[in-house]
Amino acid sequence: MADFALPKNSKIVKGIDYPLESDSKNTRKVNVYRWSPDDDENPRIDSYTLDLDNCGPMVLDALIKIKDEVDSSLTFRRSCREGICGSCSMNVDGTNTLACLKSMDDIKGDINIYPLPHMDVIKDLVPDLSKAYAQLTSIKPWLQSDTPASDGKERRQSPEEREKIDGLWECVLCFSCTTACPSYWWNGDKYLGPAVLLQAYRWIVDSRDENTGERLDALEDPFKLYRCHTIMNCTQTCPKGLNPAKAIGEIKKLQLERQ
Ligand code: SF4
Ligand code: FES
Repeated sequence: MADFALPKNSKIVKGIDYPLESDSKNTRKVNVYRWSPDDDENPRIDSYTLDLDNCGPMVLDALIKIKDEVDSSLTFRRSCREGICGSCSMNVDGTNTLACLKSMDDIKGDINIYPLPHMDVIKDLVPDLSKAYAQLTSIKPWLQSDTPASDGKERRQSPEEREKIDGLWECVLCFSCTTACPSYWWNGDKYLGPAVLLQAYRWIVDSRDENTGERLDALEDPFKLYRCHTIMNCTQTCPKGLNPAKAIGEIKKLQLERQ
């Protein structure tokens, strides 16, 4: 897969080289993007040589080891460590992914770690996702229904209806797909991007939701939906194996069918 763009405003310089402090032969160099708003300095790449005999197997384990043992100022998001919370998304080895799901064994040579591409950086590996979250809010990602549940408790679905949201509900909102999308890089202020559109489709096809028409109306816009040019970086990069490009295609098909 092609390398993605570097974070915005990044003239990156070489940083500090932290040597190995043991005589282990099982080592790996980890190069990490560093930038702090508190310093009036360019971003830099710091290099850490790690003893893999004393480190967990995943890229997130390497980052936690660096933070615990070498440089406590290293900043990144993480919570669940098992691909559920979506918070540890970053660019590893040229591909957006979840650091807790990415094995170091799958990477040859040095491990290069950057924040998600083309977003403003808050600090080190933490991108500013506030615009993406606002776009998510705009599609109303919750069930909308005026009809009370028939038994007053649950809104039931048949197995076939429930099946329609498979491949959608699993999204952990890591925005790996959105930040891998050139259309989003160019038009991110108006194009909603693959993560938000996959979420929109998740509610459009939910049999319990009664606002399908309004949801489709809101997406009938030259930018919000139709800036997708089927480049497919989103589907290639999704660390959960989902297919946002297909979800976007399905929304476009529904728009056509109701014309
Ligand atoms: S579709 Fe995949 S890459 Fe995109 S936000 Fe959801 S889990 Fe992350
Ligand atoms: S820490 Fe939760 S997805 Fe990686």
